[in-house]
Amino acid sequence: MTEFVVACRLADVQLNGAVHVELNGTPIAVAHTAEGVFAIRDVCSHADVRLSEGEVDGCAIECWLHGSQFDLRTGSAMTLPAIAAVPVYEVRLSGEGDDTVVEVATTPIDVTSTTQAQ
Ligand code: FES
Repeated sequence: MTEFVVACRLADVQLNGAVHVELNGTPIAVAHTAEGVFAIRDVCSHADVRLSEGEVDGCAIECWLHGSQFDLRTGSAMTLPAIAAVPVYEVRLSGEGDDTVVEVATTPIDVTSTTQAQ
């Protein structure tokens, strides 16, 4: 059974933005988009850079350093120079209104079939 931990309040993540959190020692970017809330390991696969400091565009997050975009749903690298996927995590929301919190799974989603940029 998947375990979840509380990452942050939903109100702490602005729409089309992302925040950095540490969950059990793992850096996670929690991104809030019009299509939902997503969690992705907060390290670009091209270099040791926080993805949470980049821009959220639709269901993608863009690394601020060299511009690679990663699909928030699968973690796959959509544009070069990054080619490797970044782990993504299941997210669930609990609570209501201003008390809504974002919970993130403690283990990543298995997306081994989507690890390379096209
Ligand atoms: S460090 Fe992210 S694309 Fe280069």
